[in-house]
Amino acid sequence: MASDEKKNKHGQLKTIIPLPMPKEELQELVEVTKDWALMHGAAMRSKSNFCEDSLNFAPFVLLPSPFPRKEFNRAVEMQIILNELMHKVAHNQSFLTSSLQETVLVDDFTGKLFKIYETIQDEGVTQPLSLGLIRSDIMLETDCNNPGKKCKAHAPYCCWKQVEVNTIASGFGWLGPASGLIHRFVLERLGLTDKLKDLPENHALKGLCEGMVEAWKIYGNNEAVIMFVIEDISYNICDQRFHEFEIQKINRNTKVIRRNLTQIAQTGKLSASNELIVEDYTVAVVYYRAGYEPGHYHSQKEWDARLLIERSQAIKCPSIQYHLAGTKKVQQALAKSGALEMFLSDKKKIEEVRGVFTGLYSLDFDELGDQAVRMAIESPERFVLKPQREGGGNNIYGDQIRDAILKIKENKERAAWILMDRIQPPIIQGYIVRPGGQKNLEVSELVSELGIFGLIIGDSTNIMINRQVGHMLRTKTASANEAGVAAGAGALDSPYLVD
Ligand SMILES: Nc1ncnc2c1ncn2[C@@H]1O[C@H](COP(=O)(O)OP(=O)(O)OP(=O)(O)O)[C@@H](O)[C@H]1O
Ligand SMILES: [Mg+2]
Repeated sequence: MASDEKKNKHGQLKTIIPLPMPKEELQELVEVTKDWALMHGAAMRSKSNFCEDSLNFAPFVLLPSPFPRKEFNRAVEMQIILNELMHKVAHNQSFLTSSLQETVLVDDFTGKLFKIYETIQDEGVTQPLSLGLIRSDIMLETDCNNPGKKCKAHAPYCCWKQVEVNTIASGFGWLGPASGLIHRFVLERLGLTDKLKDLPENHALKGLCEGMVEAWKIYGNNEAVIMFVIEDISYNICDQRFHEFEIQKINRNTKVIRRNLTQIAQTGKLSASNELIVEDYTVAVVYYRAGYEPGHYHSQKEWDARLLIERSQAIKCPSIQYHLAGTKKVQQALAKSGALEMFLSDKKKIEEVRGVFTGLYSLDFDELGDQAVRMAIESPERFVLKPQREGGGNNIYGDQIRDAILKIKENKERAAWILMDRIQPPIIQGYIVRPGGQKNLEVSELVSELGIFGLIIGDSTNIMINRQVGHMLRTKTASANEAGVAAGAGALDSPYLVD
């Protein structure tokens, strides 16, 4: 059976054309597409061979991966409900406090973030508005019979489940749309123009940047800038610079500056009216592309800079409460029975959101926590063990879960982790093209992960803007645990919608 006809046991996610492709055609297509990607900014700085002046193309999947149209549309439609939910969670002090109370005691990083949050709450919030640029990550699920997942299967390939919602540094606003452009080029090159209609439009970059410009306008000072808070070295540079260029395109008067937390610590201060001043700039909007992991804070100075920003009038993306609302612990707390009802009043919305949660289990020191510990030891392959971290590479999978749990079982640190059902996405076929002169490209078994972008602006009582603004698809080899593109396993992809 040709592999495009091969129905994996979970469904009919057929490749867009039969694979493998004829060797010579493949080779030529790969060569030209690599150049196209590089010359259109679907690129990154190399980690292994770093040079500020050069780029590598980002790893990409040669052909768009099939994704069920119905599930794609459902994810797109649900984004504004998830935006609203995250916004309300971020503004509920008692929920954030009770959800994180055990975690902040044992996880130093979350503890420090929480301390900033408490300080701001005690002092009084200077800037009531938050800018949320959210990315909700999902995977198709094939394992619907698992009791923790409780989904109503849309046979044959089931439904999708939420991996997590990112509220800080939600990347791929550029590389998401860029992947769709790569695939448009590839399909045209192959003469498959009839299939272009099944590649959904993707205006993530524009939508996210419009959000930043909108926030900048609300701030109301034409001289003030948007400040990107960046890492010391930005490997994923295209995904940041294209935001900057797009902002300039939307409004040429909106200036962007890029600074790391150390630089902000050196010159940052508050004016008499709590405006954020960095060097000689007044900052209207702070957009974090760093600050989500401990390594970005080299010393207390960087933490002081974070607090300074929070104390200021600048509109933050995200504000500290949004950052906390995006923690894995809060995600797990939201999956507890009765939690969603505190934030959403519409029964249908509640049911829809609950339907996308997979089993999430606390490891707190109580009856339920003990139960989760036992489950993880008995069948580690069914779960993912997660700390309160962002940026990829921190989760634990498979047998290593058992070892990790056995180590922390009696230790108070166990409350810093959550356990989550492992989603089993359908396997698809495709080619992953990577930089570095790869030879003999073979068809691989792959799995995809869709991210939907949301934009929300509002304060504790009022939501002014709530939109879904685009998507990104990342694909990895089926045997890899995580899909981080910069980290190595993942590759840029875009959905080819199938019925
Ligand atoms: N429940 C799950 N089932 C299957 N795979 C998962 C699950 N949770 C996470 N993963 C995989 O691990 C990756 C990282 O997980 P997660 O998004 O929770 O961590 P993160 O460090 O916040 O990553 P990111 O940088 O993408 O925000 C996901 O992109 C996915 O590939
Ligand atoms: Mg994340």
